[in-house]
Amino acid sequence: MRENLHPASTKASVVRRLLALVRPYRGIVWLTAVLAVVLAVLAIARPKLLQVMVDDYIIVGDIAGMSRVALYIAALLLLEVVLRYIFLYYTDWVGQMIVRDLRHRVFSHVLRLNLAYFDRTPVGQSTTRTISDVEAINTVFAEGSITILADLLALAAVIGVMFYTSWKLSLVVLLVFPLLLWGSYRFKESVRKSYEKVRTHIAAMNSFLQERISGMRTIQIFNAEEQEAQKFRKINRAYTEANLRSILAYAIFFPVVDIISALSLGLMVWYGARGVLSEEVTIGTLVAFPLFISMLYRPIRMLADKFNTLQMGLIAAERIFHLLENKSVAANPGTLRPERLRGEVEFDNVWFSYTGSLEDAVLKGVSFRIEPGETLAIVGSTGSGKTTIINLLTRFYEIHSGNIRIDGQELYEYDLYALRRRMAVVLQDPFLFSGTVLENITLRDANICERRVIEAAKTIGAHDFILRLPGGYHYAVRERGQALSMGQRQLIAFVRALVFDPDILILDEATSSIDPETESVIQYAIERLIARRTSIVIAHRLSTIRHARHILVLERGEVREFGSPDELLALEGGRYRELYEKQFLPNGILEAR
Ligand SMILES: Nc1ncnc2c1ncn2[C@@H]1O[C@H](COP(=O)(O)OP(=O)(O)OP(=O)(O)O)[C@@H](O)[C@H]1O
Ligand SMILES: [Mg+2]
Repeated sequence: MRENLHPASTKASVVRRLLALVRPYRGIVWLTAVLAVVLAVLAIARPKLLQVMVDDYIIVGDIAGMSRVALYIAALLLLEVVLRYIFLYYTDWVGQMIVRDLRHRVFSHVLRLNLAYFDRTPVGQSTTRTISDVEAINTVFAEGSITILADLLALAAVIGVMFYTSWKLSLVVLLVFPLLLWGSYRFKESVRKSYEKVRTHIAAMNSFLQERISGMRTIQIFNAEEQEAQKFRKINRAYTEANLRSILAYAIFFPVVDIISALSLGLMVWYGARGVLSEEVTIGTLVAFPLFISMLYRPIRMLADKFNTLQMGLIAAERIFHLLENKSVAANPGTLRPERLRGEVEFDNVWFSYTGSLEDAVLKGVSFRIEPGETLAIVGSTGSGKTTIINLLTRFYEIHSGNIRIDGQELYEYDLYALRRRMAVVLQDPFLFSGTVLENITLRDANICERRVIEAAKTIGAHDFILRLPGGYHYAVRERGQALSMGQRQLIAFVRALVFDPDILILDEATSSIDPETESVIQYAIERLIARRTSIVIAHRLSTIRHARHILVLERGEVREFGSPDELLALEGGRYRELYEKQFLPNGILEAR
């Protein structure tokens, strides 16, 4: 789960980039910083006033003066409450705003990453980046930075006033401080370690669950529930243990701080009482000091924790910036933005491998050429590289060597988005999103009106089936369209492709067989889809293949045969002919047409 992170030397740059995120809200941040200072002063003013009240008024019996000071204290308290409310609200507010901006940026970036990135990155990682890691950054702002600053300021102020009031008593109180610092450090380290473990286990749990839930059918059909539950139990136990370890750290640390603070109080009372007797310490001081002590230890208890949060936030930030810096965005140096393409497609000695090494090349010197408006059928056994060819034409991946040309221009001379606008792809396993059928067809493109969708659906022959769905075009497609049949999903994908009226249509026919009735509907749809435009069809149906102008037989990444259906059929001992005879003749599909 944890990828290589930059060395610590880049911490400064992480902080710099975090600060850049704050820039739009710097007014509010300044406000909170000022409030932090004011609150620190207000907090120490109260015990100080208490001391004054005791020494200057109560002891001398000045009731009126005492009431006046009590009134000041009450007013200060009120002011503090109001200011603290503003302070708390706005430190969190800044955190939320930054998280909102950042989350948007991360997702926009993820949207533009090329497919090779998704091949090597688990889905869970991308979702963790956009959700929980960004959330962790929130704590940097909400619980980290400014609040830590506020706590430190308050600490400094308390210590300052304590020394000002009575430096001897202060020294006695601070006698146990080194012990406290050492304890805090041990605690911080222990919590950090267990927190890292917790995060690793959470990530493991997330990706485990995600995968099992997506693959639930496979689990249930093979009765693998027990094994999976067993595996989950193990992951769950490790997660709980990691959590318990951090709880243990808290359980030890908080009482220890309490003991140290009690020790400090005890020392103070012992020494202070002696001081009062020898008239070195005033009674007011003796009243004020316990308040000082509680103001000293409370923030210290929180500080160690907050430093951890800050550190975790920084690690999360580092991961996010790492993702934002990821250069796996499809390079787009091309400038050609034609309104329409004629649709001439040429592959010229194209080599490609998914891994980048030609040792496992998937396409090995593939060449072919089709003219505008022609249909090319690609056939070949599974894994021969058919889908890969369309992955390259749509620039999902970049070729290793050779050339791909459209209308005589190299693929990379085109602006990626302009190019894709003129192409449509229907994938082997059409993907539907949650939303209405209409939204799935237009992909929320506001330029496509419902009338055009209906027209396209009628052309394809999908209109009737869509109307039969409850709600028709507004039928709510649930999670990935699981409630629709494969054939239905395909028809919707066809309408989607037609509505975009592409100049080059790419169709990866589903391998799964469907019932004869749907088959004929889909056949009709395909014929309408590929009419009058350049089409590349990875074909499994003989009817599609026979209607094609050219057939390309692919074998282990190489073009074995290329020609018209009749030419290839006439080839004595040809691969297509063999395929034709073996695959299509015996089961009588040919006769059926
Ligand atoms: N994203 C990927 N990363 C790495 N290797 C891949 C990837 N996609 C496909 N391959 C490999 O490339 C080869 C060709 O795959 P491709 O999907 O092009 O086959 P295909 O001809 O479309 O097969 P099918 O008829 O089963 O759809 C296979 O050996 C496959 O393992
Ligand atoms: Mg395929």
